[in-house]
Amino acid sequence: MEGHSVSPWVAVAYLIAGVCFILALRGLSSPATSRRGNRYGMLGMGIAVVTTLVTHQIASLPEILVAIAIGGAIGFVIARRIKMTDMPQLVAAFHSLVGLAAVLVAAAAFLNPEAFGILGANGNILPVSRVEMALGVAIGAITFSGSVIAFAKLNGNMSGAPILLPGRHVINLGTLAAILVLTALFAHSGAAGPGENPLFWVIVGLAFAIGFLLIIPIGGADMPVVVSMLNSYSGWAAAAMGFTLHNTAMIVTGALVGSSGAILSYIMCRAMNRSFLSVIAGGFGADAGAASGGEAKEQRPWKRGSAEDAAFLMKEAESVIIIPGYGMAVAQAQHVLREMADQLKKHGVGVKYAIHPVAGRMPGHMNVLLAEANVPYDEVFELEDINGEFAQCDVAFIIGANDVVNPAARTDKTSPIYGMPVFDVEKAKTIFFVKRSMGGQGYAGVDNDVFYMDQTMMLLADAKKMVEDINKALAE
Ligand code: TAP
Repeated sequence: MEGHSVSPWVAVAYLIAGVCFILALRGLSSPATSRRGNRYGMLGMGIAVVTTLVTHQIASLPEILVAIAIGGAIGFVIARRIKMTDMPQLVAAFHSLVGLAAVLVAAAAFLNPEAFGILGANGNILPVSRVEMALGVAIGAITFSGSVIAFAKLNGNMSGAPILLPGRHVINLGTLAAILVLTALFAHSGAAGPGENPLFWVIVGLAFAIGFLLIIPIGGADMPVVVSMLNSYSGWAAAAMGFTLHNTAMIVTGALVGSSGAILSYIMCRAMNRSFLSVIAGGFGADAGAASGGEAKEQRPWKRGSAEDAAFLMKEAESVIIIPGYGMAVAQAQHVLREMADQLKKHGVGVKYAIHPVAGRMPGHMNVLLAEANVPYDEVFELEDINGEFAQCDVAFIIGANDVVNPAARTDKTSPIYGMPVFDVEKAKTIFFVKRSMGGQGYAGVDNDVFYMDQTMMLLADAKKMVEDINKALAE
């Protein structure tokens, strides 16, 4: 690797890449501009990669191109095959790779500091580089092991139930404090030469352990926030790696990912009414989740409706609010749903879509699907903008959503979703609830009082099939 001096045009290229990344984030803030945002992101990453490749003699270009081809091919195949509903675990798996990359870069710099230009005159690694290295390796290792656990929980390889160790907060805080103290000792200890100071490996080991400990107590219902937190950690790991490699583009990109991930986690915490600090500390919502498990299910009366009932009542309605959720994504019902809304609009019915911030399995999941089906953006409303309208609406049409309309979040202190703001669907005159069975529960695994309400009709079928049948009935 070359030394610290960079030619001015490299700095300009990295600056342009940085601006592209900022424009990408700006674009992604609205569905209308998100495609443009993605293009900016790709352009910025292209500029950053090409600039790095032509200015660094790290390894031979053919070797790097072969590595890019292999990695790119694997990524391409995975992206083509992955189901939209499996995205959260894929994202978690990718974050684990960013974390691992940070660990490997820091380990390489530790073992061969000369190649990274961080060897001081006394033959030891510069103290400032030791701090960067220790922090980079710690954040990277936490990201790695945390993401592996998040992947296993989301992918069903491990139970989604919280695993609560006694005294976990003390253990977690103690381990974090130990990492900080060891980082300070590592920065000050001058005796051992490059690659010899064992403190480095102790920090790595503790960081792997803390990543694991932070994620195991978190229950399934709270996983979305964790994935977004890990996204933020992976950004900070990349930024720390950028310091070790003296690469401005990596520092800027890492900081952007780190801060936007942290902001997203904060927004999601607010959406689920969780405390941000308790997410970082690990194990929030876990006690309530554990308490509500294993309850005996009581049999309660409920009403079954048909596609014809739904078509008839919605055609007569003045206003219909559609609440899509994870099941709509599973069934890929977004296109037929838009056709249903089009038919209703022809009958003079006002149609709106209500999107909960954690509906589905990833941030913006429903927005992406509705945009894919060309649903006009001005018909799509956020929770706080539409929740007041259920009291005046004729029909609430719940399709594949469950937790986000569960009143237990408001009333049942023992529920794992207690405190999460939910749609006030029960205020609507009529409720249609599309799902496949009475048994299938939402992500949090809890029963829903809405099934049994007087004004509720259960439309039990695959979401796409049911909406197709409603469309047929509407067309008659
Ligand atoms: P859920 O509460 O998960 O409910 C999904 C419902 O869809 C279930 O009741 C299921 O019942 C039904 N369903 C599944 N496949 C279907 C199909 N093919 N056709 C019709 N219905 C189908 O969904 P939600 O209301 O969107 O809530 C999201 C939950 O996921 C929240 O608890 C949230 O915390 C969590 N979560 C969110 C994210 C993000 S970031 N959005 C990430 C991870 C987890 P049946 O099986 O009976 O059909």
